[in-house]
Amino acid sequence: MEKKVVYSGIQPSGSLTIGNYIGALRNFKDLQDDYLCLYCIADLHAITVHQEPKNLRKNTLDLIALYLAAGIDPEKSIIYIQSHVHEHTELAWALNTITGLGQLQRMTQFKSKSQKVKEVEAGLLNYPVLMAADILLYNTNFVPVGEDQRQHLEITRDIAERFNSRYSETFTIPEILPAKVGGRIMSLQDPMSKMSKSDSNKDGFILIIEDENETRKKLKKAVTDSLGKISYNDDQKGLKNLIDIYASFSGLSTDEIVCKYEGKGYGIFKEELAEVVTLGLRPIREKFKEIRDDKAYLEKVYKEGAEKASYIAAKTVRKVYKKMGFIPR
Ligand code: AMP
Ligand code: TRP
Repeated sequence: MEKKVVYSGIQPSGSLTIGNYIGALRNFKDLQDDYLCLYCIADLHAITVHQEPKNLRKNTLDLIALYLAAGIDPEKSIIYIQSHVHEHTELAWALNTITGLGQLQRMTQFKSKSQKVKEVEAGLLNYPVLMAADILLYNTNFVPVGEDQRQHLEITRDIAERFNSRYSETFTIPEILPAKVGGRIMSLQDPMSKMSKSDSNKDGFILIIEDENETRKKLKKAVTDSLGKISYNDDQKGLKNLIDIYASFSGLSTDEIVCKYEGKGYGIFKEELAEVVTLGLRPIREKFKEIRDDKAYLEKVYKEGAEKASYIAAKTVRKVYKKMGFIPR
């Protein structure tokens, strides 16, 4: 039987946080034995928020190296740069013509991102259509992403269903594959908001690639509460978030962690958390250092990836164009 398809992407818009790691990247590796996996570097998505070209180039190569450091094997999975496969923009255009403006305007990510800019540009609004194109090009069954992407998955399904009913059965309807724990990691300084690389408070996030001492310091400073009791509940949001981080790095369940630290103070808990996190990240940090400067290897990976991805994507676009009534060349 043919393998089912897993597809995901991450934007090269800055250094990744452990939120990205726990919610998405970490899960990519484990899927590659059972599925055909495609992992893209979503540079076309990144430019929906202004990127300095020099930084975008650096961040793109960083992210390829990080994919590899996180254990994605280019012999098993397809790693490529989104802008190298022109079918993404082609299918996005076609899908734009069947997507409701109102639905795009209701996307929570669109609403929150548009509040942060002086002028809202069209790319920001159409962002989910491009994401739908990414996913639908490859007959994707499952999409491993963090909870913040759930709504984008829903609109992808709507767009696919609309196309199928208007032009006949074409696209596979994809499903979200949420992280088992930590689908939404919160800021260490403000547990009401998502951990994000664009947070102005640098103590709010831990980067996958940073100095171990930095990581320890930030975890020590993480906001908790004055209750002084280890438990996992919504009244202790800061602590709950730290337990989620502990759980995802240790493999213990949240209950097991609460039991382990019952009657102990936050100080000890945080110290051991720092140990678990730095130990968990160490292999990736080392591997990243090893491969990041091997430009020739990175280039080989993304070129071969683009070739494999293009082959599948071209077939889909040909089929879509035909169904829409375009005359083939
Ligand atoms: P982005 O950096 O926006 O391209 O996100 C890449 C992936 O990381 C997506 O699957 C997101 O859902 C996931 N992600 C980003 N931030 C978090 C977070 N704080 N907690 C869990 N997952 C996250
Ligand atoms: N929009 C996703 C994010 O910010 C990144 C992304 C782009 C993606 N294309 C995708 C994720 C396709 C999954 C599938 O996290």
